[in-house]
Amino acid sequence: MKRVITYGTYDLLHYGHIELLRRAREMGDYLVVALSTDEFNRVKNKKSYYNYEQRKMMLESIRYVDLVIPEGGWGQKEIDVDRYEIDTFVMGHDWEGEFDFLKEKCEVIYLNRTEGISTTKIKKELYGDAEK
Ligand code: CTP
Repeated sequence: MKRVITYGTYDLLHYGHIELLRRAREMGDYLVVALSTDEFNRVKNKKSYYNYEQRKMMLESIRYVDLVIPEGGWGQKEIDVDRYEIDTFVMGHDWEGEFDFLKEKCEVIYLNRTEGISTTKIKKELYGDAEK
């Protein structure tokens, strides 16, 4: 079985997220999503509209997602790759090159983002608020 992992906040779930998850899942047979905790989002200067439990529940209801785990800090990725016996690490193109150090453990793939949509854009257009 080929196991894939990806990371993110997935706030205000949108079709760009679904597309990323669909393509990540297509790269293997089992998709783990490591979801930023509210505490980790604070570290990243990001504030989500939905809290961790709500974001987790929505992700778990998506057919492409097999397992949701918490991401609580920057240094966790190497540990996750070992613990979940990951074959392929997938991130959006916005992180191109950043996680190449994982290549000694697994395949590392950066997927193109879906154009024209982001959580920030939704917030901005609904509320005129660019705050992440
Ligand atoms: N993603 C994507 N296409 C988009 C938006 C997001 O492929 N249009 C991917 C990101 O590259 C990432 C995952 O979805 O791998 C989760 O991204 P996240 O940062 O949670 O979503 P964004 O909409 O980018 O949120 P923000 O605007 O707060 O950065």
